[in-house]
Amino acid sequence: MLIALTGTPGVGKSTTAKILKDRGYNVQSVNELAERFNCIEDGIVDVDRLSRIVEGEMIVEGHLSHLLNPEVAIVLRCNPLKLKERLKSKGWDEEKVLENVEAEIVDVILIESLEYAKEVYEIDTTDLSPEEVANAVEEILKGKGWKYKPGKIDWISEVGEFIEDLMRKDL
Ligand SMILES: Nc1ncnc2c1ncn2[C@@H]1O[C@H](COP(=O)(O)OP(=O)(O)O)[C@@H](O)[C@H]1O
Ligand SMILES: [Mg+2]
Repeated sequence: MLIALTGTPGVGKSTTAKILKDRGYNVQSVNELAERFNCIEDGIVDVDRLSRIVEGEMIVEGHLSHLLNPEVAIVLRCNPLKLKERLKSKGWDEEKVLENVEAEIVDVILIESLEYAKEVYEIDTTDLSPEEVANAVEEILKGKGWKYKPGKIDWISEVGEFIEDLMRKDL
């Protein structure tokens, strides 16, 4: 059974994946799998091909992982105001920061996950430590994920009046 740990770049997928790995879970990144199964061409992961090859019990981490037709997709979410600061502090260029902030605001990965995965959950990581995010993932894996059913997160109303500033490069 394939479990995707997905979300907009910067939400904390790799950080959470590392913790889950340390707790004994079989966790692989999409890129590791794509390399192992020869599914990278000109630096681009052939997700279609990879989804036909990958099988077994594992958590697959990465912003493309939900495209592998997993049984379960766990979407990590982060308030876009916080995500913007985080991506800026990582030194990302402004275009890329805004592209990802916008994707998070309009639920791109969640919507794709609902299309590709049989079961979808979302975790609001905004006020959680990495350990707490990993705990939430474990709850879902243990079948206690009812509070993470999608539909509760609405960044547009949450960021409210800040939305225009959020979409400006210079702020
Ligand atoms: N729950 C969290 N709280 C605070 N900072 C976090 C949290 N999760 C991740 N980070 C930080 O955010 C940045 C992006 O995390 P990362 O795991 O690389 O995201 P992703 O793999 O989703 O792109 C890193 O600097 C990481 O230390
Ligand atoms: Mg990552």
